[in-house]
Amino acid sequence: MSRFWFALAFFVCLAALWPSDARAQRTLAFDAHQVPEGGAIAIAVAEGLPAGGSFDAIDARTGGALRRAAEADGFRGKADSRLDLRGFGGYERLLVLGTGAAGPQSPRQLEDIGGRVAQAFGKHRTPRVDLVWDGDEAGAASHLAFGAAIGQYRFDKYRSKPDEDAPADAAPGTLAIRTREGAAAGSAYRAQWQPVAEAVAFARDLSTEPGNALWPEEFVERVRTAARGLPLTLEVLDVTAMRRLDMGGILAVGQGSVRPPRLLLVRYAGGAAGEAPLAFVGKGITFDSGGISIKPNTNMWQMKGDMTGAATVVSTVLALAGRQAPVNAVAVAALAENMPSGSASRPGDVVRTASGKTFEIMSTDAEGRMVLTDALWYVQRQDRPKLVVDVATLTGAVVTALGGDYAGLFSRDDALAAQLLAAGEASGEALWRLPLRDEYGKRLESPIADLRNGGGSPGAGIGAYFIGEWVDRALPWAHLDIAGADWNDSADPTVPEGASAFGVRLLDRFVRDHHE
Ligand code: BES
Ligand code: ZN
Ligand code: MN
Repeated sequence: MSRFWFALAFFVCLAALWPSDARAQRTLAFDAHQVPEGGAIAIAVAEGLPAGGSFDAIDARTGGALRRAAEADGFRGKADSRLDLRGFGGYERLLVLGTGAAGPQSPRQLEDIGGRVAQAFGKHRTPRVDLVWDGDEAGAASHLAFGAAIGQYRFDKYRSKPDEDAPADAAPGTLAIRTREGAAAGSAYRAQWQPVAEAVAFARDLSTEPGNALWPEEFVERVRTAARGLPLTLEVLDVTAMRRLDMGGILAVGQGSVRPPRLLLVRYAGGAAGEAPLAFVGKGITFDSGGISIKPNTNMWQMKGDMTGAATVVSTVLALAGRQAPVNAVAVAALAENMPSGSASRPGDVVRTASGKTFEIMSTDAEGRMVLTDALWYVQRQDRPKLVVDVATLTGAVVTALGGDYAGLFSRDDALAAQLLAAGEASGEALWRLPLRDEYGKRLESPIADLRNGGGSPGAGIGAYFIGEWVDRALPWAHLDIAGADWNDSADPTVPEGASAFGVRLLDRFVRDHHE
């Protein structure tokens, strides 16, 4: 064997040995409030560079060099500004973040600061970074850490070599959060926020996975693995079970694919025995080609993320179980792959759903609402929930209306809508309420079936109305259309570019504030 081929074989083996799920992320640690004299550190200052705090301590230590550096750089502490010094005083690197005139006013803003620090040091291969926080907000350490954890998310699984900017053997290292709460803050973080951070990462992983790596059964297996060790029970309906229940909606979507559909339920009973659970139902199309109503090629690859609603609801319940929330909850993932083939559904086909209601397919590309019909019916019958929130990348129309800044909220229940809007503001996953008018029903009339699966505008509201036809009118229900919000085109402090896992933080916040 030539030396070349030998070397090639050697490196191929090496690549195979590289831990594929290894994620170059810093371990979070918690420590006393104190400014280290060297190393890599980050501090934050409000606008105007006020006297006192870590900034002044370092300035004094360096004989006024920090203020001179700030002045030379024009750094005043404005929101989102930063002063990034290398080889300064005794420091390998000193990052000073501006927090604006008012300083951080909410957990959200603390999370952003954590995320900004984690992202700034993401490629900086120093073993330890200290984030020194001078504020005395209760729980600051947890929120700084939570923001750092979700802000430093990466998906490196399919890279055959690690980061090019880093030496191959560099460990990702530690990010130590130094607050007045000290090292004890670690237990609060681990109990309350780390489970949410892990759930966010899990949802992002699922959304990022391409269609050749994630299909309905594989989704179920991933959830089974993630649920290990948590107080959760899984129920899985396969095609035989779905046929027995006459679940024509989800079967019609899945029938064109060689990968059969699944209905997955994940149940968590952390609340009082017998108390009606909160139900979260998610659209789980592992790839949406449009089916026979096939989509144009431009951006079709993004439809690998058409299962984000399912990832979000399952991950939310994983988070609730992980932090032992005192509630009962059930997540339902309506899983199918929407493909064109000789066995696929056709436009014009009439489908009978498990509830008995029928609909006529106008477009096989309006498949999200089709799979949700049977999922909604089943969870209402089995679990008698006290409310239902469904989450779906449902329409291009909501992307046109809201872009990626908000998810669309549709509900006939003003109290539930208000709770969800508030949770959206508090979590940073914002919602915008859009109308759900009774007239939309007219636009969904079919000449031969109970309804048709699309027609007329506004597209997002019409989709919401269709879904609502499978929910008992007496049951509080909300529909979140997360198309657009599910994917970040550019990085935010707590959401790197790519899959956002939109809805996990929002629903976790909704449960914390209104149902615990
Ligand atoms: N998954 C798409 C919606 C979507 C579009 C999500 C863009 C994210 C980005 C959904 O299944 C779909 O195709 N909806 C159709 C509905 C129409 C046929 C009634 C749409 O929005 O065009
Ligand atoms: Zn879709
Ligand atoms: Mn579609």
